[in-house]
Amino acid sequence: MNHAKEAAPPWTLPRNNSRVTLKNILVTGGAGFIGSNFARMMLERYESLRIVVLDKLTYAGNLQNLADLNPRFAHRYAFVQGDIADASAVHSAFADFSIDTVANFAAATHVDRSILGAADFIATDVTGTHVLLEAARTRGIERYLQVSTDEVYGEVLSGASTERDPLAPRNPYSASKAAGDLMVLAYHHTYGLPVVVTRGCNTYGPYQYPEKILPLFTTNALEDLPLPLYGDGRQVREWIHVLDHCSGIDTALRRGEVGHAYNVGSGEERENIHVTRLILETLGKGESLIQRVADRPGHDRRYHLDSAKLRALGWVPAQRFEEAVPATVRWYRDNEEWWRPLKSGEYLAYYQQQYGSRLRGSV
Ligand code: TYD
Repeated sequence: MNHAKEAAPPWTLPRNNSRVTLKNILVTGGAGFIGSNFARMMLERYESLRIVVLDKLTYAGNLQNLADLNPRFAHRYAFVQGDIADASAVHSAFADFSIDTVANFAAATHVDRSILGAADFIATDVTGTHVLLEAARTRGIERYLQVSTDEVYGEVLSGASTERDPLAPRNPYSASKAAGDLMVLAYHHTYGLPVVVTRGCNTYGPYQYPEKILPLFTTNALEDLPLPLYGDGRQVREWIHVLDHCSGIDTALRRGEVGHAYNVGSGEERENIHVTRLILETLGKGESLIQRVADRPGHDRRYHLDSAKLRALGWVPAQRFEEAVPATVRWYRDNEEWWRPLKSGEYLAYYQQQYGSRLRGSV
């Protein structure tokens, strides 16, 4: 794992022939999967930084994801519960902690949930992003980083999406992310806000809520429950380890050109059936657990990013899929006390709504 410290002062960036020092970073959505890994990585990498996590603590935000930070980084880490769509909560966080940088990880992220209802996605991914941008514009900021997704490009049946490609989202989640993404870039063009956008591929690693395929299938397999594989299972995703994704975001934040987007992809594309088999193999479980179920409506067949632009800034992903996925699967096996409490209450209601009839009428 790439936890190397960099020599101080790492937060000095060129701007208009002068230097900018980033010090107090607001990590919105920092109690979620990628945000919590980013908060930890940045505290470990840079001794001069203070990280302030602002998180609404929805079902996907979990203070357990940050539990180790308090004793380890008590003087450089703070947590504030709040919604990015709540202007007064955002302005208070900016003022209370002299925020000079925003890294926006706060989002509703699950495609299947967005198909059941998109209101939360619009509220957080569009309106919330706008509230953050307004706070950044009116209070002044050194960098605003928007964490976006490869899904904004829509499906790519061949080749790879570059940052110059038009956005063509095809489900309510990716449409919401694309709207936020475009608003961020509009704030640069209109107001000169120093923004950078990252668009990451499918991410795996510790602390991912068990609704996404990897933790869902892993924890189901551990419980000997069926793994509901959509359609023919031949859909293709590009997979990156969360720490590689976070180090890509760090590179874009520190070295990216303002007003630009950067793809964060590993180049490692796999069919869903391959991911499923690797999970089962790692756990020593049989393929009889795979249950083919009705496909996701409008399911994008393939995503693939061209990440040459970020690599040109010096970023290199360190983890390989075939080793890092089994290591992640073992993390869930060994950290049952983290995920087991999550698979109760609201989760079970969601699971029933999403999979109940599908599992009864599997294809
Ligand atoms: P997911 O983890 O939901 O991420 P995304 O939709 O953002 O790519 O899904 C990854 C792939 O796995 C996607 O092609 C859908 C598929 N999938 C299943 O086959 N079954 C499932 O139960 C889930 C959650 C996903």
